[in-house]
Amino acid sequence: MAIDRIALVTGANRGLGRSAAVALAARGARIVITHRGDAAGADKTAEQVRAVGGKAAVLRLDISDVSSFASFTSALGDQLERWGASRLDILVNNAGVGIFGPLEAVTIDDFDTVMGTNVRGTFFLTQSLAPLLAQGGRVINVSTSLTRHTSPATSVYSASKAAVEALSRTLAAELGPRGIRVNSIAPGPTATDFNGGAMRDDAETRRGLAGQTALGRVGEPEEVGDAVAALASDDLRWVTAQRVEVSGGALL
Ligand SMILES: NC(=O)c1ccc[n+]([C@@H]2O[C@H](COP(=O)([O-])OP(=O)(O)OC[C@H]3O[C@@H](n4cnc5c(N)ncnc54)[C@H](OP(=O)(O)O)[C@@H]3O)[C@@H](O)[C@H]2O)c1
Repeated sequence: MAIDRIALVTGANRGLGRSAAVALAARGARIVITHRGDAAGADKTAEQVRAVGGKAAVLRLDISDVSSFASFTSALGDQLERWGASRLDILVNNAGVGIFGPLEAVTIDDFDTVMGTNVRGTFFLTQSLAPLLAQGGRVINVSTSLTRHTSPATSVYSASKAAVEALSRTLAAELGPRGIRVNSIAPGPTATDFNGGAMRDDAETRRGLAGQTALGRVGEPEEVGDAVAALASDDLRWVTAQRVEVSGGALL
């Protein structure tokens, strides 16, 4: 990756957002870390970014609150100016929620929260930030392996991420004339706080998932972060409108 790109990672206060922020920083990017209230987590990510030689700024952003996007965009513009820049090079739409349950248990509130965050938030944040994206920029949207294989009680979550993948392909066509690549990255089960930390903390869950995975284990957050950084790099400059699964071969 060329030194001195600027990347924004949503939900970078923990988990895969943090690992993406650190991996991008290790390859030379300055990072705008966003969080929706966990300032301590965001500061910890900023420390890790600095520890690998990067620069970090922290901004607050709730991606389900689309009414805040205009003021967020202006705060981002101020931050870019402080860095002597006017453009964002890499947008990683990582923030997302999963609410899991069988058909009969899903409430309208659950549905609205998942769709409002993963689809509506991702779409309108990208719309708000698109004018700031540099010629040759990249957008990476975080999806899930669950758009390829099925697992009971994940219907709304996997549908929301299928929408994210469809948005990614269409936006790749729309933003392509500006040299902007748009791809989605689809992690398999990865050891973070996600889903109550089951993939990290529950031995039975980990064993079960390992048995369904070609490489025989659950993923680690750094493995997804490195994949995000690779997708953002110039090595993959001819790759757009693609879904890259990072799952160790889950449920092949
Ligand atoms: N871990 C996996 O197995 C896995 C697999 C496939 C895909 N994914 C996807 O990977 C992404 C990151 O997940 P993770 O594993 O890092 O899970 P996580 O540890 O639960 O982190 C989720 C992140 O999203 C943020 N977030 C949720 N709703 C938000 C909102 N309305 N506004 C701003 N931020 C919001 C969270 O903020 P708070 O800290 O404030 O809650 C947190 O930073 C998600 O999109 C998830 O769907 C994860």
